Amino acid sequence: MSKHRVLTGITTTGTPHLGNYVGAIRPAIQASQKADVQSFYFLADFHALIKCQEPDLVHQSTREIAATWLALGLDTDNAIFYRQSDVPEIPELCWILTCNAAKGLMNRAHAYKASVDANVEAGADPDFAITMGLYSYPILMAADILMFNAHKVPVGRDQIQHIEMARDIAARFNHHYGEHFVLPEAVVDDNVNAVLQGLDGRKMSKSYGNTIPLFLPEKQLKKSINKILTNLLEPGEPKDPDTSPVFQIWQAFATPEQSIYMREQFAAGIGWGEAKKQLFELINGQLAEARDRYETLLANPAHIEEVLQKGAEKARAYSKPLLEKVREAVGIRKIK
Ligand code: TRP
Repeated sequence: MSKHRVLTGITTTGTPHLGNYVGAIRPAIQASQKADVQSFYFLADFHALIKCQEPDLVHQSTREIAATWLALGLDTDNAIFYRQSDVPEIPELCWILTCNAAKGLMNRAHAYKASVDANVEAGADPDFAITMGLYSYPILMAADILMFNAHKVPVGRDQIQHIEMARDIAARFNHHYGEHFVLPEAVVDDNVNAVLQGLDGRKMSKSYGNTIPLFLPEKQLKKSINKILTNLLEPGEPKDPDTSPVFQIWQAFATPEQSIYMREQFAAGIGWGEAKKQLFELINGQLAEARDRYETLLANPAHIEEVLQKGAEKARAYSKPLLEKVREAVGIRKIK
């Protein structure tokens, strides 16, 4: 019996931060160690082009994200780890799906609509600076998922609509051409710790500029943690853990016992400086070894590239035969 397939993509823009780690990378790496699932993790570099037209930034982010996942112990024997652009079957499938996806469906995509709304609000042309990449992006995402007939797709809440669109597109294709695609399901982690707060207490996100990069050198990590928002309460005054990003971030790294301990410290009036010092030690203790591996990997980019090439080979063992069937189904065939 073939294994249950879990797939997710990581857009290669930006440097991974603690929020990415807690919300996506850590659970994915844990899941990759399960022997009864076949997991697919990929660097979505074609998706990066939608948001970023700076070649060096796209390249740098791809390198950093690959090194991050490897440094954190992704088991690449068990999980298939590849770069989207190394699998040419994906953009080809994307085109075939584009010809079967309803334009009206794309009109409803949140990501695209948000850009239109922003233009309208600014009094600009509704289409100002909107590329076809942004507009068609859910179809590329559908191709990523359907290419491997993934059953489950772990994503953030903002991506649920895209998985539903992938289902719609798959169902329409299957209806017309026969059963080729599994209808994928989104998996959203509702754990309160899945969304990490940033320096200012809002969701940690690159777009808010409130992130703590995952592999900051030790001194800078300490500095960054010292910038987390606090109030003016003095040492000795009891503090409310439930409204403090210091505590919330603590919880995301702590064992249940360590969380109870810190709750008690807040009630007993721990000073902000001391709480942050302990938070730094907790996080640094969990990341220090991986950070060394990360630095070593970045110093040896040929090794990263080799791992990705092996991953692409494994991925293409799935994508090539499926695309052949899809081509045949739509009538793209050899003349004989
Ligand atoms: N669009 C996703 C995001 O921004 C990344 C992504 C691309 C993805 N392709 C995917 C996620 C396929 C899951 C499945 O987070």
